[in-house]
Order: sequence, then structure tokens, then C-alpha cells
Amino acid sequence: MEDERDHDTTSSSPPSLSKQLAGTTLGGSTDVPIVDLSVSDEDFLVHEVVKASEEWGIFQVVNHGIPEELMRQLQVVGKQFFDLPEVEKEIVAKDGDFEGYKRKYLGGINNWDQHLFHRLSPPSIINYKYWPKNPPQYREVTEEYTKHIKRLTEKILGWLSEGLGLPHEAFTQSIGGETTEYVLRVNFYPPTQDSELVIGAAAHSDMGAIALLLPNEVPGLQAFKDEQWLDLNYINSAVVVIIGDQLMRMTNGRFKNVLHRAKTDKERLRISWPVFVAPRADMSVGPLPELTGDENPPKFETLIYNDYIDQKINGWALEDLPVY
Ligand code: SIN
Ligand code: FE2
Repeated sequence: MEDERDHDTTSSSPPSLSKQLAGTTLGGSTDVPIVDLSVSDEDFLVHEVVKASEEWGIFQVVNHGIPEELMRQLQVVGKQFFDLPEVEKEIVAKDGDFEGYKRKYLGGINNWDQHLFHRLSPPSIINYKYWPKNPPQYREVTEEYTKHIKRLTEKILGWLSEGLGLPHEAFTQSIGGETTEYVLRVNFYPPTQDSELVIGAAAHSDMGAIALLLPNEVPGLQAFKDEQWLDLNYINSAVVVIIGDQLMRMTNGRFKNVLHRAKTDKERLRISWPVFVAPRADMSVGPLPELTGDENPPKFETLIYNDYIDQKINGWALEDLPVY
């Protein structure tokens, strides 16, 4: 079970996945949308984020208010942690739950899955035993980053709600308000000579509502759109927003739970810091009554989030199961 919650991932309709993995056209011409949040016209922002969520399910935001220096610090403490000797990292190793540090050999040349996973919020569910004590600034930097990432998430969820004619708080409340779970995963992808073959993160959609991801400067994240894998261009200090399964389900399919994956680089170390935003495990989530009706009957079952996770994991064909 330990590994199963690792897949922030997976799709309940896996059959087409092998086909999608095989039919890869890289670096297609259409760019993933970029939304500049410094624009003062809120109506315009609402329109932009809704359009990006409907058409893509993934977009980048710039001028989002998270201090650049703080983003840099988060990257520094993450890198410092992974640079520690293995025995130091093992201090926060996984211990029967999905949280903690893990390193697993996946076959091939230098193909390791290495990540650190831990909860950020709400405070009542944080297990500090999984937060590295070394480097010493890790906790302070991560707590500060959490404040900003929560604020930005709620802002984006607010615009998405308004854009669909709902009260500003609608999506935030539908995933539990203050009880919404924020979980950080630091993905560490060392360079691999056979990077054309090595997929750092296999194709998947995220199980939660939304994820906000900070990459390092090495590109590798790809989104699947119009039968092609498209590269996300790296933009300094941008945050990548990924719509997950629950927002897709709450909007009765109007928002796209984008299929995405991450490649490794031949020469450079790639690291990414996604923060997954998900309902509490015991919350019921399904199409919102305000977004359904006689004309648009619910396409998805309302499920307890934990049951959704189980169903999704069990729905995977073995060969399609993401390896991390
Ligand atoms: C993920 O989606 O789980 C990881 C994506 C990335 O590393 O960019
Ligand atoms: Fe993901």
C-alpha cells in the first residue's frame, strides 16, 4: 500500500495509455498557455485561467506574487537534501506510509526514482518526522513557501469558480476549505544517457484537485494535447498549474485533467517541486449540482476521495502502472 499513494497519478481509463506513450511527437508547435497575474483586470484573468483549464488543463503563471528569492531558497534546500549522503537521507525514509524519502532502482542506465514526499497543510496532519532536519533551513523555507502556495492556490481556485458563475469560494469549499490537504513532492531526476527512453514520471493525470509545480531550469515536463506530447518551455520563476481529476469531476468534465509526464535530461539534473492540493480522504467529491442539470446530467459518480484513489489505482493495467 505504501507505494500506491505515491501515484498522485494514474487514470481510471488506462487502455489508451500505451498508445499515447508510443505515439509521441515531441516539441509540437502549440505553446502551453502563460497567464500573467500582474494584469489588474480580474475579469480578464478569470477568462484566461478558465480557458486554459478547459482547453489544456495545464498552464504557467508568472508574476504570481511568490517571492523569487523564496522559490530559489526552496530549490536550494531541496538540492542540499538530495546531495546528502544516502544514510543522512534515510533518516526521513518512508516508513509504511506515502510520506518520506525514497530511492528505488528502476532498471536501465542510472535510472533511479528518488523523491521526498510530505504533507504541508493543514498543520494538524503534518508529520515533521518526514521533514529533513538537514539542511537546517529546510523547515523555515518550506513553511514560508506553503503560506504563499496556499494563497496562490486559493486565488486560482477563486477565479476558476467565478469563471463558471459560482461564488469565489466554491471550489475551495468543495475540497474541504481549511481541511484541504497540501502535499509536497520533491522529484529528483539525475541525468541519464538514455534519456530518450527514460521517463522520469510516467504519463498520468493527478488524482487531486490541482497541483502547483515549481521546476528547476531543466525542461522535461510534457503535456499531452491533440494526440501529441508537447514540451513545457521553462520560464524563470513561473509556477506550473496542473488541473487534476477532482476539478475535472467537479466541473462535470468541463476542465481537463491533463495527461502529463516528465522526461529526464542527458546531461543535467532535473528537479521539480509539485504541491498537490487534494480533498481530505473522507470527503465526497463529484459533479457540483450548480454545474449539472437536465441539460447536463452528471457524467461522474460522487465518491469518497479515498475510494476514488483505490478505484483509480486498481483500475490500472499492470504494464501501465507508473513506476514511481
Ligand atoms: C509529476 O507530474 O508527478 C512530475 C512532473 C515533473 O516532474 O515535472
Ligand atoms: Fe503529476
